[in-house]
Amino acid sequence: MNIILIGMPGSGKTTIGKRLADILGMDFRDLDCMIEEETGRSIPDIFRESGESHFRDIEESVCRKAASFENTVISTGGGAILRQGGMSLLKESGKVVFLDTPVDTILERTDFSGRPLLKDDAGRIRRLHEERISLYRLYADIVLDNAGSADETLKNAVNVLD
Ligand code: S3P
Repeated sequence: MNIILIGMPGSGKTTIGKRLADILGMDFRDLDCMIEEETGRSIPDIFRESGESHFRDIEESVCRKAASFENTVISTGGGAILRQGGMSLLKESGKVVFLDTPVDTILERTDFSGRPLLKDDAGRIRRLHEERISLYRLYADIVLDNAGSADETLKNAVNVLD
């Protein structure tokens, strides 16, 4: 069974995911890294040179591949929920955990350089959150509150997942 972390960019999926995998004795994979490894291009380059729709095609195919992983904590990109085919397959492979980090916390904690959809635009991040929150909730088997410290979030995660 896999654990699939979904949530906004900057919500802490990679940080929490790596630590959760360590605690639970699972593997860890980051789908943004998989995209960069498979294409040999950085995510900002893919957006700039080929556009968002092409990026979503690649992201969806990586989600489909990741659905065959076993015993892996999978950190998805914030927009992975935008393609139903890939997300539905991932959901069948394990438990989907929505890392629910308040937008203000995201804005305080995150350096958004190198994240093409966001840059330093707080308004854009708030709009993305409004557009996506219902999809995050729709796919989630578990909603994990991440308003506090990473330690608290991990403790709660282990309680609900173990
Ligand atoms: C995106 C989030 C990014 C990355 C890409 C698009 C999004 O991943 O996949 O820049 O649409 O929210 P993170 O959520 O890991 O930042």
